[in-house]
Amino acid sequence: MKASVTGSCIGCNLCVELCPSIFKMGDEGKAEVIADPVPDDSLGCCKDAAEQCPVEAILVDQG
Ligand code: F3S
Repeated sequence: MKASVTGSCIGCNLCVELCPSIFKMGDEGKAEVIADPVPDDSLGCCKDAAEQCPVEAILVDQG
């Protein structure tokens, strides 16, 4: 699975709190993906972050 953060991110930091193995806050105040592909042990928290992001800025590719 691959994850990405779109320009819609408002920097709420929720994804970083939920899944710090995959997301970090970048210099621009937007989240960045730091693991590609997403390791198996982080699939759950990555999906949680995508579902809970308030602006749906996290895209996940199941491929
Ligand atoms: Fe941005 Fe959503 Fe994360 S707004 S900081 S991608 S939870």
